Amino acid sequence: MKPAGLDRVRLLDLEPTTDDFEAQLLAGLRRQPRRLPCKFFYDSVGSALFELICETPEYYPTRTELKILAEHAAAIADFAGPGARVVELGSGSSRKTRLLLDALREPAAYVPIDISREHLLNAANAVADEYPALPVMAICADYARPLSLPEEDGTRGRTILFFPGSTIGNLEAPEAVGLLARVGQWCRSGDRLIIGVDLEKPLEVVVPAYNDKAGVTAAFNLNLLARANRELGATFDLDRFSHEAIYDRAHQRIEMRLISQQQQAAEVGGAWFAFAAEAVITTEFSHKYTPSRFQQLAEAAGWSFTSYWTDDRGWFGVFGLTWSGR
Ligand SMILES: C[S@@+](CC[C@H](N)C(=O)[O-])C[C@H]1O[C@@H](n2cnc3c(N)ncnc32)[C@H](O)[C@@H]1O
Repeated sequence: MKPAGLDRVRLLDLEPTTDDFEAQLLAGLRRQPRRLPCKFFYDSVGSALFELICETPEYYPTRTELKILAEHAAAIADFAGPGARVVELGSGSSRKTRLLLDALREPAAYVPIDISREHLLNAANAVADEYPALPVMAICADYARPLSLPEEDGTRGRTILFFPGSTIGNLEAPEAVGLLARVGQWCRSGDRLIIGVDLEKPLEVVVPAYNDKAGVTAAFNLNLLARANRELGATFDLDRFSHEAIYDRAHQRIEMRLISQQQQAAEVGGAWFAFAAEAVITTEFSHKYTPSRFQQLAEAAGWSFTSYWTDDRGWFGVFGLTWSGR
């Protein structure tokens, strides 16, 4: 049966991973140290695993950000203003968006952007069902690549870029500045960015969040190799790689890795790659910021600091930023 919202959700599918996955996997395995882009975690299996990570007792970021958004919904809606078009980067399940949409006065449209097509469509349809008056246009794209937004017919208020989940923390600082500057080009002077950022905190809280006892994060990490096997016919032996997440104090970030359990080789796209025992493939960074370090980063991208909301423990920050029109 067709989901009820399907007729109302327009999809712009830029097919972001079709050719890119094999090329980037090969490039990442050929470089030293080996490193794969975390955006490839998110096929439909990876997106479902991410939703499960959010439910683990150790993974504080989702719960904490949801609480901040709920507690400060009225102030965030005032910051956004009436008639806003909400454009969400890395929208995933759009769960946090509902808190924003519920608080906003007469939102004009919702434009979720995500690389994970099926998950995006399901989430966009669910939003369309729940908010029948809201036009929803889903964009399946890699937001790190050049992208123009569709015309903003009927938008009366501001464009509000919504970027929750501390997904910005996956990027190293120069890339993060580049992305925030680029998405600013979609904006007019005075438009807003509402962005969730994970903050520095005791390591006994941070490290378990990426090493949950149930092994969901491990399955999420290993799905990168499983996906290469499924989509590219690669020959990674999943039982011979294990998950590790360590804190790198020098860079204030979690580094997620896959570790080869023994000497082995795997084939990808006709090329063979040897892995020594203990060999490392880095798969994701999650940078942790202080509020002032993140403010500096956002300002370097052309956004001015306007508002800030946090939780009682100061574990997570939601920044309200304004495009200065550069
Ligand atoms: C950490 S999850 C956060 C999901 C959701 N925003 C939340 O706060 O729970 C990152 C999301 O961004 C998407 N994503 C990651 N890299 C992307 C990219 N380069 N372009 C578009 N979407 C991306 C993933 O598919 C995933 O839905």
